[in-house]
Amino acid sequence: MAVERTLVLVKPDGVRRGLVGEVISRFEKKGLKLRALRMLWMTREQAEEFYSVHREKPFFRDLVEFITSGPIVAMVLEGDSAISVVRLMIGSTDGRKAAPGTIRGDFALSIQDNVVHASDSPESFEREFRVVFSEEDVVGDYERC
Ligand code: CMP
Repeated sequence: MAVERTLVLVKPDGVRRGLVGEVISRFEKKGLKLRALRMLWMTREQAEEFYSVHREKPFFRDLVEFITSGPIVAMVLEGDSAISVVRLMIGSTDGRKAAPGTIRGDFALSIQDNVVHASDSPESFEREFRVVFSEEDVVGDYERC
């Protein structure tokens, strides 16, 4: 069993549509532990660093515009194989192709306005975490308190 941490964003479309509670609820019910939670409005610099792996992609400029278009909610989730489990739960990038029962499959019809983001690897998690959080934002083991 490999306990991992992953970073999830509820993107501006998800916040505007009032889906924050729905998204968090799904992860909590799955058994993933919320370790950090923050609402913020990303700056352009933060967005460019967060999505730096996509810098050369044709959609990069639109992606930065979109993610800075309104407030987002960021969270750190922890659990066994959290990175792959959360990726399964959010579904394919394109909401039109995401399976029903996944977050994007149930709530998105677009590749850009796709409600959520989740880390795709431990390396992505480290970079994304540093953009949004600092170590003192992470709450440790509270299950037995
Ligand atoms: P996300 O999981 O946040 O990671 C990168 C984002 O780029 C992706 O979700 C999409 O919202 C966005 N994006 C916009 N256009 C495209 C595209 N053509 N292919 C892949 N991702 C895209």
